[in-house]
Amino acid sequence: MDKIREYLIQNRDLFGSELFINSIVNTSKYDNYPVLNLNEFKESICGCKECPLGQSRTEFVFGGGDPNANLLLVGEAPGEQEDLKGEPFIGRAGKLLDKILLAIGLNRNKNVFITNVVKCRPPNNRDPLPSEVEKCEPYLNKQISLINPILIVALGRVAAKTLLKLEMPLKDLRDKIHDYSGIPLRVTYHPAALLRNPMLKKAAWEDFQWIQKYINNKS
Ligand code: URA
Repeated sequence: MDKIREYLIQNRDLFGSELFINSIVNTSKYDNYPVLNLNEFKESICGCKECPLGQSRTEFVFGGGDPNANLLLVGEAPGEQEDLKGEPFIGRAGKLLDKILLAIGLNRNKNVFITNVVKCRPPNNRDPLPSEVEKCEPYLNKQISLINPILIVALGRVAAKTLLKLEMPLKDLRDKIHDYSGIPLRVTYHPAALLRNPMLKKAAWEDFQWIQKYINNKS
C-alpha cells in the first residue's frame, strides 16, 4: 500500500490529478498465473463473468484443437452456433475455414489450434466492445504463451488490431510478417468476409498457401 500511495503522489505531482495508466502490450495478469497446461487454464477461466458477455452467453468458447499446435488461428468472437456448442468456428464461416485448412493439408485437430479474441458471444454478433476485448485479452495472451505456436494467423480486423495494436486497413496488414512477442504473425481475411465478398478469396488463398509453406519449412 505504501508503494502504491507513493506512486500515486508522485504521479499527481508530475502530471496532475488525472491518472494515466499506460496499457502494456502483450502482458497480462495471466502471464504469471501458475497454470501448467491449456486444460487447466480452460477450467480456471470458463466461468468468467468479468464483462457483461459472461451473463448473456450460453457457453464459454475457450477454443479448440491441438494444444501443441504449430499454427494458431485467432478469430473475433463466437457466433450463434459457437455459443450454443462451446466450440469455435463451427458455423458457416467455420465450415469454410475447415475447407481452407484441408486444402493446405491441415485440420483443426492436428497441429492447429483455433480460438477467438473474445470468448463469449456478443449479442446479435456485433463487434466486441473495446472494454470486452480488454477483459478477454489476457486469456488470449496466456493461451499463446501456453501453446507457443510457430505461427499466429489473425483472421480479420478485430484479431489483427487486438494482437498488433495497429489501426490500419486489413489489406495493408496482409503482406507482411508481423511479430507478436517473438512469434511471427500474419494477417488474413476473416472467413466470414470471404463469404460476404468472394472476390477476396484469391488473396486469402495466397495467404494460406504462404502459411502452408511456412509451417512445412519450419516444422
Ligand atoms: N467468427 C469468429 O470470429 N469466431 C468464431 O468462432 C465463429 C465465427
